[in-house]
Amino acid sequence: MERSLSMELVRVTEAAALASARWMGRGNKEGADQAATEAMRDVFDTVPMKGTVVIGEGEMDEAPMLYIGERLGNGYGPRVDVAVDPLEGTNIVASGEWNALAVIAIADKGNLLHAPDMYMEKIAVGPESVGKVDLDAPIIDNLRAVAKAKNKDIEDLVVAILKRERHAAKIQKIREAGARIKLMGDGDVAAAINTAFDDTGVDILLGSGGAPEGVLAAVGLKCLGGEIQGKLLPSNEEELARCKKMGIDDVNRVLMMDDLVSGDDCIFAATGVTDGELLQGVRYHGHTGHTQSMVMRAKSGTVRFIDGKHSLQKKPDLVIR
Ligand code: FBP
Repeated sequence: MERSLSMELVRVTEAAALASARWMGRGNKEGADQAATEAMRDVFDTVPMKGTVVIGEGEMDEAPMLYIGERLGNGYGPRVDVAVDPLEGTNIVASGEWNALAVIAIADKGNLLHAPDMYMEKIAVGPESVGKVDLDAPIIDNLRAVAKAKNKDIEDLVVAILKRERHAAKIQKIREAGARIKLMGDGDVAAAINTAFDDTGVDILLGSGGAPEGVLAAVGLKCLGGEIQGKLLPSNEEELARCKKMGIDDVNRVLMMDDLVSGDDCIFAATGVTDGELLQGVRYHGHTGHTQSMVMRAKSGTVRFIDGKHSLQKKPDLVIR
């Protein structure tokens, strides 16, 4: 993959963030998502790659654009698998909360798990704790391992977990272990990435969230030298059949980094839509939109943070139509 693709992908996430941030707090998650998707789709046409969506807005018959199997890019350049979440955290934007992102991940063709739209049990950690956690192990063991790896007491750890009824037992166990907890309304991609940065104050992500989000997080963590493990959680026969179709015969198997994203190269780009621990959300000053993005590549290990200033007079499509 050409390294210049990194910058091209940031242009795409910036456009999605600028378009969807206008919907912040308007109580309309569909409007926010549609704005992000349309902006992302438009800019993709200019990116020099032969991409195929493997994780997107849905199947061809249910999503008008960025559907699974859709070809992206200008038709020149490398053949890549593309995972997109134009707006990761639709509810977050609708209510103006924390950590909504526009996200893209790419890898050489065939290297991304074509994760079906179902839940995935996850554990994600930053570089110090790689190889020290196990999704199948008791929570206390994983917390001990991360505390040791980070030279902290368990009481000083922060566990990010989605605030969901289904997580009640896990939250109880984390509390019994004495660790601190950040309960999130939404947005477990940001939380997984946060584990790789000390400044975010997040040490480990636990709990179940979307499987597609698990693959996006895996690409980000591969670039950062972190780790996520996942287990698909089919909830009915149809979802089970979809797992088998993807070649996952044993759904109880823990999917490791190489199962989620294989090969030695991949790129992850994200732009903040609302404020988060790592990226600021979009700010509007006069006719200028300010964005903060990150882009990173596994092969080189380079992580870039990019501040963008965008003239909204020259990009009129990025305001509510
Ligand atoms: P959306 O952007 O699709 O709303 O996803 C937000 C999110 O919180 C993800 O970060 C997470 O993986 C998933 O939803 C959790 O699903 P649920 O809300 O059903 O618990």
